[in-house]
Amino acid sequence: MNVLLIGSGGREHALAWKLARSPLLTKLFIAPGNAGTTATGENVDLKSNDFESIKNFTLENRIQMVIVGPEDPLVNGIHDFFLEDQKLKHIPVIGPIKKGAMLEGSKDFANNFMDKYGIPTAAFKTFNSGQIREGLKYLESKKPPYVLKADGLAAGKGVLILDSLESAKEELREMLENKKFGAASARVVIEDFLSGIELSVFVLTDGKSYKILPSAKDYKRIGEGDTGLNTGGMGSISPVPFADAVFMDKVEKRIIKPTIDGLNAEGIKYKGFVFFGLIKVDNDPYVIEYNVRMGDPEAESVIPRIKTDLLKMFQAVANENLEDVELDVDPDFAAAVFIVSGGYPESYEKGKQIKGLDNINDSILFHAGTTYDKVTGNIITNGGRVIAVTSYGKTMQEALEKSFANAAKINFEGKYFRRDLGKDLL
Ligand code: AMP
Ligand code: GLY
Repeated sequence: MNVLLIGSGGREHALAWKLARSPLLTKLFIAPGNAGTTATGENVDLKSNDFESIKNFTLENRIQMVIVGPEDPLVNGIHDFFLEDQKLKHIPVIGPIKKGAMLEGSKDFANNFMDKYGIPTAAFKTFNSGQIREGLKYLESKKPPYVLKADGLAAGKGVLILDSLESAKEELREMLENKKFGAASARVVIEDFLSGIELSVFVLTDGKSYKILPSAKDYKRIGEGDTGLNTGGMGSISPVPFADAVFMDKVEKRIIKPTIDGLNAEGIKYKGFVFFGLIKVDNDPYVIEYNVRMGDPEAESVIPRIKTDLLKMFQAVANENLEDVELDVDPDFAAAVFIVSGGYPESYEKGKQIKGLDNINDSILFHAGTTYDKVTGNIITNGGRVIAVTSYGKTMQEALEKSFANAAKINFEGKYFRRDLGKDLL
């Protein structure tokens, strides 16, 4: 099978690495990919929201399946674009149609969906720019901390958590009146703050049945001890030790099953990943957010633990017989430690030569912000998050120690990684 994978991050390298192991694969193209994905297939220079160019490439290269890594093209309707095109409609797309992608594309939609289907989440109310006064009043009726969420996609920056009523009111005005996040904050969801420990749970669904993939914990803050600015993710660990069978049973009964049933009840034929961003409050799971794709950096620890042929699973998603596939998961831990550019998540330099990549044998390197220098051919940095170092271990500590040791062997000017991952789980 010829496969086109859309995306360029560590998540996509992890997917590509796994797909490349499938006997069903003939040729893998990654659009646009990174320096790491060239080991798994051919990078092609396509923009993920340029559906016409993707169409032409798909037809010219006899692509038989399109797998969408990031949320953007899904929210913009890439799957619908394929279904509505006579020449493309028989080519399966892994990733939901636009209506399904609203679970991530609109916080208001997601919260109302959860409300309707009795899925546990924070109490909330949504306000538009004509309702600023009502919004301010609502804030006054609440206790700190205040959670404000831009309704639409805001590149991971649309959630604000504020300790004082004054700053919450000011930010509400900024979002609604001054369009702080552009059209994404034309509506703002105000939520009650939930206090607990977060985890990520993933399912792959063909719209009828689903497979629960390994759980993971990601580390969002730049600084050790979970301090400093939010990042795209500094690493991940799978499985999550506290997500035991009893807890996961609650997750499935109260959250996963009602979500899949709810999508069906809404007439949404959902084919792809559902990412449940959860928080454990006392011993109960609540949904913080839905995403309609794999997590990043969670994919870098979750995908390596999946023993089943992922392409076979995607084929079953397309054929709606996922129920017949057995999901086999490696019981060992996997830990992904992200090496990032100095300065990230604020301004940082690109183009730094990366050394030491050939010295690593007992970890898997998933590239994110890397590329080839056009003149020298060397691998250089090309983003904030550069490479995830993933290792297996019989224990979480063993997996982490291998990744820390190998992250220390990879060098470029200004490199940084957190050495405290997993401490909160001991
Ligand atoms: P993002 O990944 O940008 O959507 O960030 C959302 C983050 O904000 C989550 O990972 C939580 O840490 C936090 N968050 C979102 N909603 C709530 C909530 N209702 N209560 C507490 N924390 C929240
Ligand atoms: N790790 C969080 C995300 O992928 O959104």
